[in-house]
Amino acid sequence: MSTNKHIAILGAGNLGEAIAKGFAGNFGAGNITLTRRHLSRLDHLKERGFQTTSDNKEAVSKATYIFLCVQPKQLEDVVKGIEPVLDAKKHILVSTITGVSLDVIQSYLKDEFAIIRAMPNTAAAISESMTCVCGNELAGDHLSKVEEMFKSLGETLIIEERLMKAATVLAASGIAFFLRYIRAATQGGIELGFEAEEAQKIAMQTARGAASLLVEGSAHPEREIDKVTTPMGCTIAGLNEMEHQGLSSALIKGIVASFEKINRITE
Ligand SMILES: NC(=O)c1ccc[n+]([C@@H]2O[C@H](COP(=O)([O-])OP(=O)(O)OC[C@H]3O[C@@H](n4cnc5c(N)ncnc54)[C@H](OP(=O)(O)O)[C@@H]3O)[C@@H](O)[C@H]2O)c1
Repeated sequence: MSTNKHIAILGAGNLGEAIAKGFAGNFGAGNITLTRRHLSRLDHLKERGFQTTSDNKEAVSKATYIFLCVQPKQLEDVVKGIEPVLDAKKHILVSTITGVSLDVIQSYLKDEFAIIRAMPNTAAAISESMTCVCGNELAGDHLSKVEEMFKSLGETLIIEERLMKAATVLAASGIAFFLRYIRAATQGGIELGFEAEEAQKIAMQTARGAASLLVEGSAHPEREIDKVTTPMGCTIAGLNEMEHQGLSSALIKGIVASFEKINRITE
């Protein structure tokens, strides 16, 4: 997708930078303005052709799509700070901020705006994010346009806002859950005789292969498991022992515990 619209990314930290790099291929770095207060920390991005400033209002006045990528506690000040140059007929606000609803963002503003929430994960940095998006009524067609923009960072899904916290757990926290599995498999491999690097390489590629079988083959996990579990064989022995120890149950309980926690710490 290409757009002749200028993009502003307010708060170009870890996530804002990853988004900027992903968008640059499609929209051109020169069409993207990045902001943060410590401007010198954006020098490496300026060298790559991005526009940079510590003035959020300046960035907003040039842009159509405004990506809000600051920490949750910084959001209200940032939104109220740019309000004098915001135009409800021109600007679309896109928030990546965890746990702040569309209504809360709207409550910081006098005019009614098209507002979209996006929940990417850290794999955005290598264009392998899973990004869920939702929008308010005014977002209209912009929701699918913004979803299309996030496709340059990986896979996307439009969801209802009520599922945004669940998406945060499954996709953003999910990165940590899968990484812990890879680390545990690596430790098992070391115990069986591999060097750490070799074991990690085998675990990483095997995890990637398992996911690719589902993504590219549109298969069901249990059908793929059936293919590698010979009757009375070693795979089913290991798998059943993992289940006796509570593997699936531990994963489901962990996901639910994360969800309960996010509900407690956000409104
Ligand atoms: N990291 C992820 O994978 C991830 C995934 C999903 C959602 N999120 C959400 O994305 C947001 C950003 O996360 P992050 O990990 O990228 O945090 P981060 O690295 O701390 O980035 C936030 C950036 O905002 C800048 N900032 C603070 N106040 C500002 C202001 N008034 N004007 C302009 N820039 C300002 C900070 O730079 P200065 O101090 O130099 O201003 C900082 O670089 C969070 O709300 C988080 O919930 C993150």
